Amino acid sequence: MKNKKSKLSKQTLQYRNSLKKQQKTDNRQPKTYYYGKQTIDSSDINSVAKILPSQFITQGPVSQHFENELCDYFGSKYASVAANGTAALHLIALALGWKKDDVVITSPITFLASANCAIFVGASVDFADIDNRTYTIDPNKLEEKIKYYLSRGKKVKAVVAVDFAGHPCNWDALSTLKKKYDFQLVNDFCHALGAEYKNDIQYGAKYADAVNLSFHPVKHITTGEGGAVLTNNPEVDKRIKILRTHGMTKDESLLEKNDGPWYYEMHEVGFNYRITDFQCALGISQLKKLNKFIKKRREIAEYYDRFFGERNEFIIPYVSKKVKHAYHLYPLQIKFDELNINKKDYYNLLKELGVVFQVHYIPVHLQPYYRKNFGFKPGDFPIAEKFYEREVSIPIYPTLTKIDLTKISRSIINALGLK
Ligand SMILES: Cc1ncc(COP(=O)(O)O)c(C=O)c1O
Repeated sequence: MKNKKSKLSKQTLQYRNSLKKQQKTDNRQPKTYYYGKQTIDSSDINSVAKILPSQFITQGPVSQHFENELCDYFGSKYASVAANGTAALHLIALALGWKKDDVVITSPITFLASANCAIFVGASVDFADIDNRTYTIDPNKLEEKIKYYLSRGKKVKAVVAVDFAGHPCNWDALSTLKKKYDFQLVNDFCHALGAEYKNDIQYGAKYADAVNLSFHPVKHITTGEGGAVLTNNPEVDKRIKILRTHGMTKDESLLEKNDGPWYYEMHEVGFNYRITDFQCALGISQLKKLNKFIKKRREIAEYYDRFFGERNEFIIPYVSKKVKHAYHLYPLQIKFDELNINKKDYYNLLKELGVVFQVHYIPVHLQPYYRKNFGFKPGDFPIAEKFYEREVSIPIYPTLTKIDLTKISRSIINALGLK
């Protein structure tokens, strides 16, 4: 990205000074709005408190209950809860049998973990650029990539498709490619809890071999840290459940012998990726509110759409006719290049006004690790790179009020010197 000298307009500076003056007279600290925040109420707190005195506080009956609730809500046959969303992705990579030199393709606009999970198991990562409108992996670019590998005698092992910001990927196109080129399909669903694809909230495990969720505090529902894998494949589910507990099994059908009720065997190396029962109690309580949270997020998005949609300086998130967006993020594009404003200066100014945006994401292929180890370079995925230059994730979480939204939106335009 070019490091342009910022051109903060006279209006912007005047606005900042008047705000500072007003704060001095009011003698109060302004509220700071971050891009995301958990929503925890007394019913959540009570659910956790109820579990703490139990005999079993790590993964036990409440975790299983949470898994059943996840299956019911997301329509998968199986669910396995895990320590976090990254652990869930690692378990998927292991359970799907990715190995050294396998090629796994994902989107450059995602969190590191969507790509790193392939590295964890020694596989090789590549990317396919995003669609300019939905910001999810472009099926045409993906097919080009698959053909490129085929032309060199290599079959792509798996694709990790990310329902970025809460907008589902083009799952019909992806499943056509899956049939044609026979790869495994993972849905990195961390942003899309509550999204719908063709009026179906339970689309996840219908299209993908495995689906991973994260319950990090900024996500739709939280367990502090936490994650899960959904699948309709009993073999994948069985392996995930063994691998998340050190590779230990008591399953009679797998044992070489049985010395007694204490007996277990380990046939492959696993990890401790368990989650606690008190976290799962929080998860159950939060899941009950997911519909309400999504409704609120959509109302906030509607407000921002109206506010920014008419102004030429912005591009609001597009929503395909096939989907209902879940708005984990509200990725607003600001045409900094055309406004001749430096994004870093804008960030600092907006922060002074009490709005702290985040940027999702620094394209993964531009990370030093990926440049050094795989030879990626700027210009490899131009749509993702342009998106990164313009994207800001502005505050979206259920407790924001109309007054908050007015303040946030006005600050965003005023800091750009707009009225
Ligand atoms: C798209 C995506 N995948 C994976 C993860 C990893 O989840 P966790 O932070 O729970 O490990 C995240 C979380 O930030 C994410 O946004």
